Amino acid sequence: MEKKIALIKGDGIGPEIVDQAVRVLDKICEKYGHTFHYQRVLMGGESIDATGVPLTDQALADAKASDAVLLGSVGGPKWDSQPGHLRPEKGLLQIRKGLGLFANLRPAYLYPQLKEACPLREDIIGDGFDMIVVRELTGGLYFGTHETNEENGELVAHDDLRYSESEIRRIAVKGFEIAKKRRCHVTSVEKSNVLDSSRLWKKIVHEVAESYPEVELTDMLVDNCAMQLVKDPKQFDVILTENMFGDILSDEASMVTGSIGMLSSASLNETKFGLYEPSHGSAPDIAGKDLANPIATILSAAMMLRYSFDMDKEADDIEAAVRKVLEQGYRTPDIRSRISPEGEIAVGCKGMGDAIVAAL
Ligand code: IPM
Ligand code: MG
Repeated sequence: MEKKIALIKGDGIGPEIVDQAVRVLDKICEKYGHTFHYQRVLMGGESIDATGVPLTDQALADAKASDAVLLGSVGGPKWDSQPGHLRPEKGLLQIRKGLGLFANLRPAYLYPQLKEACPLREDIIGDGFDMIVVRELTGGLYFGTHETNEENGELVAHDDLRYSESEIRRIAVKGFEIAKKRRCHVTSVEKSNVLDSSRLWKKIVHEVAESYPEVELTDMLVDNCAMQLVKDPKQFDVILTENMFGDILSDEASMVTGSIGMLSSASLNETKFGLYEPSHGSAPDIAGKDLANPIATILSAAMMLRYSFDMDKEADDIEAAVRKVLEQGYRTPDIRSRISPEGEIAVGCKGMGDAIVAAL
């Protein structure tokens, strides 16, 4: 098969982790006789430096013209003082919106080999957990108006949070469809004790649930969910939630699986098209030091093969290679054991890439 992949390396550790994912994809091409054509697309800080804006129309058009987008990460202290509309992160929001990527899937799974990197107690971990955050990605607070004005001699800022029925319905359908293929349980997370947008969320999610009698629905307030994630993460199968809550809870879900360096993500529209990126940020503190964990990006590339290219066997192969290197003891700094790191093989970003390519 021949596919065109838009590559957005981005900022901070972005280039290092994307390079390792590309090596893994090239190995898959070699093994299965596929051809992937890569096109570099600029976004975030690297785009600001080159063009003055975080995403050009041409970059968005190039991404649209590809079969899928693989992204590293954007942002860093260098651009922190830019106004909101010229920050690297704005490029990410523009590409999500511009490509209609309303469904963000973030699977959080505790690899048995990484139990010792998990910050939770043994009795809470038990035989591990396996959940997926289904996050609405093109609505809510992120896309309302953001304004700071002077009123009565002081600055007043506001951000507008709105959701329409149709925006809630389409992500809810996604969540229930995914649950049907997993353990048939959706936890819908909102703040309906305070917010109107959450009360509408809850109403629409319950309407959608009527079409999925085989799926159990639990409503949960977001503050309680944050607590339950560390108290008893095993209770979760699909966490269905709006944009901002999903941003926060997916970081938490990833950390209870040992490290945010392991959490992949897929952002999908109504078609097979998707943007694939690790859930973590650009980690400027470790950028360029060969310390980053490339696994989240490599697993995101596997999701790309599965969801956008229907290459299930190839995706399984990458996921098995990741399990194998963890089994062999390869560890980047973020996933070293808290308890007994002696038997582990310490590697950097490139070393982890080498091990995964070798396992393939
Ligand atoms: C994420 C990131 C982004 C978000 C930032 C970089 C804008 O935190 O993908 O989780 O908040 O969506
Ligand atoms: Mg985030």
